[in-house]
Amino acid sequence: MNMRNLLNNEWINSPSGQTFENRNPADQEDIIGNFPRSDAGDVNAAVNAARAALKMWRIMPAPKRGDIIRRAGDILTQKKEEIANAMTREMGKPLIETRGDVQEAIDTAYYAAGETRRLFGLNAPSELPDKMNLSIRVPIGVCGIITAWNFPVAVPSWKILPALAAGNTIVFKPAEDAPYSANLFVECLLEAGLPAGVLNIVHGFGEECGDALVLHPDVNVIAFTGSTAVGKHIAAKASQTLKRVSLELGGKNAQIVMDDADMELALEGALWGAFGTTGQRCTATSRLILHEKIYDTFINKLISRVTKLKIGDGRKPGTEVGPVINEKQIQRIEHYVHIGKDEGAVCVLGGDRETKGDCSRGWFYKPTIFIDVTPEMRIAREEVFGPVLSVMKVVSLEHAIEVLNSTDYGLSSSIYTQNISNSFAAIRDIESGIVYVNCPTIGAEAHMPFGGVKQTGNGHREGGWTVFDIFTEWKTVYVDFSGKLQKAQIDNN
Ligand code: UN1
Repeated sequence: MNMRNLLNNEWINSPSGQTFENRNPADQEDIIGNFPRSDAGDVNAAVNAARAALKMWRIMPAPKRGDIIRRAGDILTQKKEEIANAMTREMGKPLIETRGDVQEAIDTAYYAAGETRRLFGLNAPSELPDKMNLSIRVPIGVCGIITAWNFPVAVPSWKILPALAAGNTIVFKPAEDAPYSANLFVECLLEAGLPAGVLNIVHGFGEECGDALVLHPDVNVIAFTGSTAVGKHIAAKASQTLKRVSLELGGKNAQIVMDDADMELALEGALWGAFGTTGQRCTATSRLILHEKIYDTFINKLISRVTKLKIGDGRKPGTEVGPVINEKQIQRIEHYVHIGKDEGAVCVLGGDRETKGDCSRGWFYKPTIFIDVTPEMRIAREEVFGPVLSVMKVVSLEHAIEVLNSTDYGLSSSIYTQNISNSFAAIRDIESGIVYVNCPTIGAEAHMPFGGVKQTGNGHREGGWTVFDIFTEWKTVYVDFSGKLQKAQIDNN
């Protein structure tokens, strides 16, 4: 199938005529389609379209914008199954997860639509008589949205829907590994009545297409989800035009299990956190920090549960672990497994590709567990982005938190304990943007702030009300109705 870019509500090919292919990671023979390999010219046309549409969109009453976004939520609901199926075929995660991905976008649509009747500003009294001070949120302008493939609809929706609600227009560069899902998502917005030029898509690669968007002087903000390395590259390039940059980057998330935890619950959490989405989430659990008193028993139980996980094509009922996204990523996992073994960690499960039966057709890797990992090892510090769990032993809560904090990342953390004092100490002392108590490191809800500290980001939070700090500027307004010249700081001397 020949897929296209979207410009001014028309699906078009890139004038360059270049395309790239996208394949099903569970079946290398299955080609999803050919997509335009856009360049700086395509990006420029899209930015111009978005800039022109801004004139009308930014002054449309916000609740009217909300009506369109709410309708898009309704359409996503109707098409949930269709989009989930296409997404599983395109990027591999099991159907129950891709349904959740679409649901996250539906939740975000209704939340963002509701916010168009709030978008609250702040006001404060004036220091002078007969004068009113207000501060209001205004759209930031044209937004460049660059997203990852692991949440092909949810993550774009976290950025695009609030940005639209706030009155911005958009140029969207989806991940090259999940471009079809992105088109399906955007089609729902078109069907809902989004006017021409408000949202444009440029497909392609980072170096040719993403960079042009980041460098474009007429783009006001870049919102990016992806790796820390690419995030740094984007921030450096974007600094040339002083545009705002919001980065949601890597993680090395840990789950602590204390000796007083509900073990069954902690086990379920670790399984879902580490091997859900084949470990390919920025919120995935990639470290398990166990209290010494339960270390051996917990590992044994975990191994017996992980052994039973069903690996395969995510479209087959019962599949629990889908493929890895592509050959490059599977090689990265292999590289880290090598490193782990070299460093002296003990690989007690997995450690190689899964090639049995239908798995031979795609990129599958066995769920892998390393034990006796120590905090200085690279598999305890660096993001693998795959089904690889590093297990570490600690002697106390303080020790657990110290180990948890000993990475450069800080997205999501979890602690399982029945002790209320331990819970609150952990909430206070853990260095991460999200802390879960008695639930896994994955499971963020659309209406709560989402993001991390340290190398996970640059201080922004998507989700909830905080996303509007990314996609709006503050405008301060002084209205003097005294009829005379009043001088702040001077009249009050
Ligand atoms: C991501 O991995 O990029 O909490 C986002 C979660 C999901 C979102 C993950 N709701 O894991």
